[in-house]
Parts: sequence; C-alpha cells; structure tokens
Amino acid sequence: MRIELVTGDITAEQVDAIVNAANSSLLGGGGVDGAIHRKGGPAILEECRALRASRYGRGLPVGQAVATTAGRLCARWVIHTVGPVFSADEDRSPLLRGCYARSLAVAEGLGARTVAFPLISSGVYRWPKEDAVVQALAGLHDEPATTVEQVRMVLFDADTHAVAERVLRASEYTR
Ligand code: APR
Repeated sequence: MRIELVTGDITAEQVDAIVNAANSSLLGGGGVDGAIHRKGGPAILEECRALRASRYGRGLPVGQAVATTAGRLCARWVIHTVGPVFSADEDRSPLLRGCYARSLAVAEGLGARTVAFPLISSGVYRWPKEDAVVQALAGLHDEPATTVEQVRMVLFDADTHAVAERVLRASEYTR
C-alpha cells in the first residue's frame, strides 16, 4: 500500500473512497464534514440518516467507521469516521489510530483500491498536527489492508503538508 501526501480539497479527490472527519451524529458539521455534504449533496445525508435510524441509533462511536454513497463526489463511497477530541489529560491516540485502521478495513470490505484521508481530529478537534500525522501513519500500518493499493493523505494547506512530509520522512514507514 502506497501512501501519498497531497495538498488540496479532499472533495476534489478522484478516488474510490473519501474518508470524512465526521462527528457521532453523522448529520454533518463544518470542516471536511461540511465540505463533503455540501459538495456531495443530499444523498449522503439521506444514507447517514438511515444509518442513525438503524445500526447507529446512538450515533457512530469515536474510532469507528461506516460507509455511504459519495453522492455527487468523484468517488464511489464516503467512509465516515469519528475522531477523538484532543485531550492533554488523557491519551486518546489509540482511538485516533483506530479511525484510520477501521476506515481502511471498511475500504477493504468495499473493494476500494484508492482511498483519500483528511488529517482526522486536527481541525475542530484540536489535535496537534504533527502528532495527528504520527497517529495517522501508525493507524494505517495497524491494518493489514491488501486490496487498498493507494492511500492519499490530503492536507488542506502547505504548512500542514510540510509537517506531514517531515513526519513521514522521519518515520520507518516506506512511501
Ligand atoms: N479538504 C481537506 N482537508 C480539510 C478540508 C477539506 N475540504 N477542510 C478542512 N480540512 C482539514 C482541516 O484543516 C484539518 O487539518 O481537515 C483536518 C480536519 O479538520 P476538521 O474537518 O475540523 O475535522 P476534525 O478536527 O476531525 O473535527 C471534526 O468538526 O466539522 C466538524 O462535524 C465535524 O464535529 C466534527 C468535527
């Protein structure tokens, strides 16, 4: 599985699956979540509502992932995952790694070969960007995905891309 770092808007990614940095309600929000619902259109929210009315009556738990249609996006699926809010008092990094591993497992189950991830929890949920990248790489390598050939980590700005590049270079993970 190749990991590429790109800078841009994840809603423009032409991949099989786009991962959404959602919240437990699955009913939309700001940041990546807002952009995906805005650009993907109502079909995504309709499927999210159906998930809330069935399997996820109490909301999608933190660290879990579930797929819906991608609506009007240039992807087949959106994989919604809920990152942990950063806490200085409690180590929630296993939950953040779980977002990547679970999303990859969902992508694998769908037969997706290319997946785009945002830097989960590093926006509204205030996770420091450098450690967010460390956890992302660890989470991606926790999951022995075989059919997923390419992961594109989509950083929203050049500064975040530079941080990610530095972390990736310093990590033991191959590109
Ligand atoms: N494309 C790629 N990256 C983006 C985009 C975009 N269109 N918009 C924002 N980002 C970046 C942010 O700069 C940040 O680095 O994605 C990262 C995650 O930021 P958020 O979207 O705020 O996600 P998160 O920190 O996980 O917070 C999730 O925010 O939007 C709400 O409903 C969402 O409650 C949930 C919470």
